[in-house]
Parts: sequence; structure tokens; C-alpha cells
Amino acid sequence: MTDEGRSSSVHRIPVPEGAPTFAVPGKRPDMGVQRVRVGELEDLPLRRGKLVCAGGKEIALWRVDGGVYAISAVCAHQHVATLHEGMRNGSTVACPLHGWTYSLESGRAVVGSGILRTYPVAVERGIVYVEVDEDV
Ligand code: FES
Repeated sequence: MTDEGRSSSVHRIPVPEGAPTFAVPGKRPDMGVQRVRVGELEDLPLRRGKLVCAGGKEIALWRVDGGVYAISAVCAHQHVATLHEGMRNGSTVACPLHGWTYSLESGRAVVGSGILRTYPVAVERGIVYVEVDEDV
């Protein structure tokens, strides 16, 4: 099966030679990073999140003040992918199940506990890309 056959909205693309690298907290230095196309900016809702899959991870995308944040969609409380359906307030999002709330910038819980993985996002010519660890 080709990459295109896996999902209509997720495509793996090569990172161009000389492209800036992204620092990913917790990433081993020998692991590569893949840049995954997750959709078009105009298709991201303004007041709701969107669930995408990149690098085998469930990721919630949120538009905030013209930018895009990518955070693990899996809540640290009961480990279910809910944060794309949460309630955003500024740059935080609250889980719709029990209200644990996370900073979209750092992934840290501001209500509840834990820290969620955040992912670098690039928007180029209206296309949204998320940087995730390469499959090992
Ligand atoms: S599952 Fe998210 S707060 Fe309970």
C-alpha cells in the first residue's frame, strides 16, 4: 500500500535538503524527523480542533490567532483521544470529558496533571505540516 492509500489527508513528504531542523523535546539525537502534510490551513476550523494522524500519533490541531498548534490528542487523564473536541480558551484547551486543561504551547496541564507532547508546525503556501519522529 502506498502512503497515499493510508489516508486522504496525511501524506509523507521528504524534507528538502537544507531545510531547518526542529528541536523536539525528548527526541534521541539519532532519530530523524519526518515532515507530514496534514491538510490545508483553510480547512482547519477556527473555533474547533481537528484530529489528524501523523507518524502514527493522534494529534489535535488548533488555530489560534492565525497560528496553528499541534498537541497530542490523547488526554493524560484516561488516555483517550479527545483534545480535538475540547473547549479552547486562549492558548489552552480543556478535555471535554473531565476538564483537564492543557497549554497548547507547552503541553503542560494547567488543570489536572501531566504534560502532553507538542509538535512543531509549519504552514507553507496554505499547506500545514507537522514534524514528528521518524518511524524506527
Ligand atoms: S479523559 Fe480527559 S479529563 Fe478525563
